[in-house]
Amino acid sequence: MRTIDWQDGAITMIDQTLLPHEVKQLRVTDVDTLITDIQRLAVRGAPALGIAGALGVALLADQFRNDPERVRADAARLREARPTAVNLSWGVDQALAALPEGHAAVLTRALQLRDADIAGCVSMGEYGADLVTRLVSEKTGKDQVRMMTICNTGGLATVERGTALGVIQTLHERGSLAHVIACETRPLLQGARLTAWELTNFGAPFDLAVDSAAPFLLSRGAADAVVIGADRVAANGDTANKIGSFSLALAAKYAGVPFIVVAPESTVDLSCADGEAIEIEDRGSAEVVNFAGTQTAPAGTTALNPAFDVTPHSLITALVTERRVVNFAAGQTLKDTPLGELRLP
Ligand code: MRU
Repeated sequence: MRTIDWQDGAITMIDQTLLPHEVKQLRVTDVDTLITDIQRLAVRGAPALGIAGALGVALLADQFRNDPERVRADAARLREARPTAVNLSWGVDQALAALPEGHAAVLTRALQLRDADIAGCVSMGEYGADLVTRLVSEKTGKDQVRMMTICNTGGLATVERGTALGVIQTLHERGSLAHVIACETRPLLQGARLTAWELTNFGAPFDLAVDSAAPFLLSRGAADAVVIGADRVAANGDTANKIGSFSLALAAKYAGVPFIVVAPESTVDLSCADGEAIEIEDRGSAEVVNFAGTQTAPAGTTALNPAFDVTPHSLITALVTERRVVNFAAGQTLKDTPLGELRLP
């Protein structure tokens, strides 16, 4: 089952709020429900949000066939449903660009983006697994790698196969994966609920760790490389990703461990010069002062809850996309690294 798809005039998607206990598919036929589902994280992860945005415009274009202004107005609301992952506005804009050709062209464009996501994740897996294997064997002489990751960047964050977790899956399929440490990812536990579920499904050996244990574990040599996804990569390579990523990058630098960002080209936002320009979603107190429906802090406690942080490019070894590897540690930049080909095995 794909994480997000289009079937018989509706968007279908797995309700990720119910995982790992229940696999339930939602059928979404209107954009207001889609916006709510995005905001409650039924569908989440930057690439999946991009496809949700594009398919959402396809719904609108079909529903308001003779009212392009209405389509554009509702698409503008969809675009703003969550602010940090640039893929959402990218997906909406890509689909809207086909609107002058009619509703069928909008759907065709959205389905092209869906298919490109699937192929792109395979390609990222190939580029990323090669890079990790090379960096680790150069440093340690080992051909079996121990990986650390945070949040969920697997098939649940894309259409079918993941970005950073896709690299881990490719390493596993090649017989080169020794172990994974998955950070649980407070406060909503995307690592514990979703990444652990995916790692179990594809049979990779792993342990879960609380986020605050990860820097210590890296300092004790528990992983050979860290891979994360991205919600937005600025023009200089600064990267917004799930809160906790920056701590991992600092610790990876301290431990001398490669820190690799894996994300599609659609996550690169050249209109943001650097990480300062990236808007960070604030998800409010409730997610922090409650746990699984039980209040855990005294009544009236307020909490800070930035959903993402920004890792400066100086802490990032390399960015892997479906079409290139930008080796920041070797002084490469996004501007001077040309796009290459998709790499399919
Ligand atoms: O709040 P979420 O679950 O949407 O956050 C997701 C992440 O931070 C992912 O790491 C990122 O979107 C990349 S997904 C391939």
